[in-house]
Amino acid sequence: MSCFVLSVGLLLTDKMSSIEVRDIQEGDYDEWVRLFNLYLEFYKASLPEETKKHTFERFINPEIDMWSAVAIHPETGKIIGIANYLKHMYTWNSKDKIYLNDLYVDEEQRLKHVGRSLIEYVFKKADERGDICDVYWCTDMTNHRAQLLYTKVGYNAGKFVYKRPQN
Ligand code: ACO
Repeated sequence: MSCFVLSVGLLLTDKMSSIEVRDIQEGDYDEWVRLFNLYLEFYKASLPEETKKHTFERFINPEIDMWSAVAIHPETGKIIGIANYLKHMYTWNSKDKIYLNDLYVDEEQRLKHVGRSLIEYVFKKADERGDICDVYWCTDMTNHRAQLLYTKVGYNAGKFVYKRPQN
């Protein structure tokens, strides 16, 4: 079983040279939730406020292996993209996997390498930990826009995702 951890530094091309990505911080809730709400809207989903707050609290809690990375606009200093990710155990390796759960970039900031910078930041964090053998994520078969980015930073693992039906 080969491990898929791309070792990527921040690629400083013209488009992304000024994109700062950092770990989420305690005061980021309002800006993070604005983008998280847009992400949920993109999926025609909604969540109770308490669930969003709970998710955010988990990012901040150092004892919980769930994080968020945020991309910052170079001029406004506002958050323009988010990547929420978490770590879990794995039966094929004593190292763990990171699952990139949610990725969202503000509509007017797209095609400027913000999404790529966020994914590469997650790769960098995985490499720095030393206990991660794989970083993976999934998207809808119909999400061609995301796939255009994903085939540049990763490869299609060729899996279908099945779910237990809701009662
Ligand atoms: N047309 C052509 N190429 C594209 C397009 C497009 N519409 N979108 C991305 N690409 C290519 C770019 O050309 C670029 O290639 P390059 O590095 O060779 O120049 C590459 O993909 C990187 O694109 P970014 O600019 O980094 O992507 P962006 O910041 O626009 O973010 C994202 C992409 C996150 C998919 C954004 O469109 C978005 O937020 N969409 C709505 C929500 C969504 O679909 N999220 C992902 C769901 S899956 C998940 O959450 C794990």
